[in-house]
Amino acid sequence: MNLKSFILPAALALSALCASADAAMESKIDNLLSRMTLEEKIGQLNQLSGYGYAPAMVGQIKAGVVGSILNDVDPVTVNKLQRVAVDSTRLGIPLVFARDVIHGFKTIFPIPLGQAASWNPAIVEQGARIAADEASSAGVRWTFSPMLDIARDARWGRIAEGFGEDPYLTSVLGVAMVKGYQGDDLANPSSIAACAKHFAGYGASESGKDYNTTWIPEMQLRDVYLPPFKAAADAGAATFMCSFNDINGVPSSGNRHLLRDILRGEWGYDGLMVSDWGSIQQMIPHGFSADLRQAAEQAIAAGVDMDMEGYAFISHLKELVESGSVSMADVDNAVRNVLRLKYRLGLFDNPYVDEANANRFFLPASLDAATRAVQECAILLKNDNNVLPLKKGVKVAVIGPMADARHDQNGTWSFDMEKDRSVTPLESLRKLLGSKNVIYAPGVKYSRDRSTEGFAEALDAARQADVVIAFVGEEAVLSGEAHSRVDITLPGAQKELLQELAKAGKPLVTVYQTGRPMAIAQDAAVSDAVLYSYHAGTMAGPGLANLLTGAAVPSGHLPTVLPRMSGQTPLYYAHKNTGRPAEGITLIDDIDLEAGQTSTGCTSYFLDAGDGPLYPFGYGLSYTTFDYAAPVLSASEMGPDGSITVTCRVTNTGSREGAEVAQLYVRDMVGSLIRPVKELKGFEKFSLKPGESRDVTFTLNAADLGFHLLDNSYVVEPGDFQLWVAPNSAAGEPVAFKIVK
Ligand code: GLC
Repeated sequence: MNLKSFILPAALALSALCASADAAMESKIDNLLSRMTLEEKIGQLNQLSGYGYAPAMVGQIKAGVVGSILNDVDPVTVNKLQRVAVDSTRLGIPLVFARDVIHGFKTIFPIPLGQAASWNPAIVEQGARIAADEASSAGVRWTFSPMLDIARDARWGRIAEGFGEDPYLTSVLGVAMVKGYQGDDLANPSSIAACAKHFAGYGASESGKDYNTTWIPEMQLRDVYLPPFKAAADAGAATFMCSFNDINGVPSSGNRHLLRDILRGEWGYDGLMVSDWGSIQQMIPHGFSADLRQAAEQAIAAGVDMDMEGYAFISHLKELVESGSVSMADVDNAVRNVLRLKYRLGLFDNPYVDEANANRFFLPASLDAATRAVQECAILLKNDNNVLPLKKGVKVAVIGPMADARHDQNGTWSFDMEKDRSVTPLESLRKLLGSKNVIYAPGVKYSRDRSTEGFAEALDAARQADVVIAFVGEEAVLSGEAHSRVDITLPGAQKELLQELAKAGKPLVTVYQTGRPMAIAQDAAVSDAVLYSYHAGTMAGPGLANLLTGAAVPSGHLPTVLPRMSGQTPLYYAHKNTGRPAEGITLIDDIDLEAGQTSTGCTSYFLDAGDGPLYPFGYGLSYTTFDYAAPVLSASEMGPDGSITVTCRVTNTGSREGAEVAQLYVRDMVGSLIRPVKELKGFEKFSLKPGESRDVTFTLNAADLGFHLLDNSYVVEPGDFQLWVAPNSAAGEPVAFKIVK
């Protein structure tokens, strides 16, 4: 039998097997549902935050008013609570235990924005797999991750939790995270259910202020904010979470068009939709619900299945159904989605965590993986005179509040981290260079510290050293939920500290650990080298030290632009060209006295910031250099259903092996709606030895070059296009091609 004659029948048999397994599961769900009372159904739709084997929680479980518990992470407690649900309720429906495992459970990986900087789905998937193994060994089977919110405003604290500003990069990495969490079999005890959040448009919060309103035309919602969620749904993300924000006046927890028409109707999604914490109840302060009863009615009708800590469903659904305001069908659908999650997790067959094999934390292989992640997630932005990597035998002054910040290097949403397990850059540099070659002076005590008392000691240390390494950034609490900042420069006296250190006249290497893209123009101006990292987690020390000493080669690339000034935000690369794109920029200090009104030209730029970012989306240097030949197209035109291949030869023209991220950008030159000046449509990360070349090939489908019109239809319009294959969004020369009718 030849292979082809084997594959097809096997594939058909497998799909038939899956279909019958699904049918069997659906039949079990229907059977169970048919035996449930209305109160038991409503109990499944209620998620409560638990802290230990509390009598109140035990009572609620026995009363059948809890379907899921979040925040309990002790395996013994989880099993005791689970036994109450299984043994002491009429139907014995197991609970599903959840936790925010956002970038690691115990072994903390770089924050998701940092993982995005790796441009490496394998790094993201591995981190999620390790997080799933650790968390599931503590009893957690559901995480509220990946966060897929496109964010283009660095003031927004939650930009830390996502994969940056681009829908394509976010889609690829979001799918990798889903696969890492859920593995090949969601019923495997070491798998945890992923949760695509926050559905949707949360990253568009006006002025970057958290929980703020959003105004998103639906065609932009579909072109920019929804694609990563669609990719996660297609990848089998077991759950979704609706967002706190309103879109154009409708809070997501009550947005029927979003939750039913699009997610269920257009996408055919059959997973569970959980609210965000109290987001159903918060439709009252939104001014969308008059009271909790109306909020419950609106949410169940819109398609929210489970109420996280909102007490809306448990308080009002019974009366709403009995009065006919809410249909039993809507309740049954929600319960089905809850039961389907529990069946898919295997909880009916295996509800308990294996206590004999619990708490599998900080395995050596996990720590090694976390170190490699740090190495791939840091971005070399500047390296004048090749000051990096550090030369052997060099004496360094280690300065700054993030050099030895066991807590803060883990960043936001690292609830279960153990700071004593953090390895800091100071420790690692002492180990790699020898303590006698490291002089440490923090300069400021913590990132917000405005005191300059420590400057003298820091300057003195700098004067004794060959090279100064300043570890700066933000404390963990300065990013994440409810932590937006208007001024996205270094907090406290750090900017002044860097200016002071520059006076020592020694090479200054500035290393960031932050929760957001920051405005670093004045810092970079006095730094000979800049290594930009986001909060890097447990192994920040070894990862960053390996990069600084050359044991590892930087390969990170920016997942967002870095603005010159805070006031430029929101700022992103896939912007529109406007009718007057910036040209002839005259900066504020260069304007003549009594200058004529039109003397600075009339094009689109800021007098004090010019135009564009300090560093572009996709930018990142290495310790080697790469050359890009002109891309070669398989054809110069294609039909609306066609595709072309694009090949570009990339060569390592330097003296060290290094990894590069070749990026494919496209521009639709003329559209019935104006199109962005560039859009990422592909990327590939690969290593090259000195002198080695690689022909990177992308397949470009015309179908991927369309966009949504005002009537929300998706169109691929014929016309002229340009494409680039380049190391970042601002480099390379375009190659023209057409889409023809
Ligand atoms: C929070 C966040 C959400 C998180 C949830 C549970 O308020 O918005 O991202 O998963 O509540 O902690």
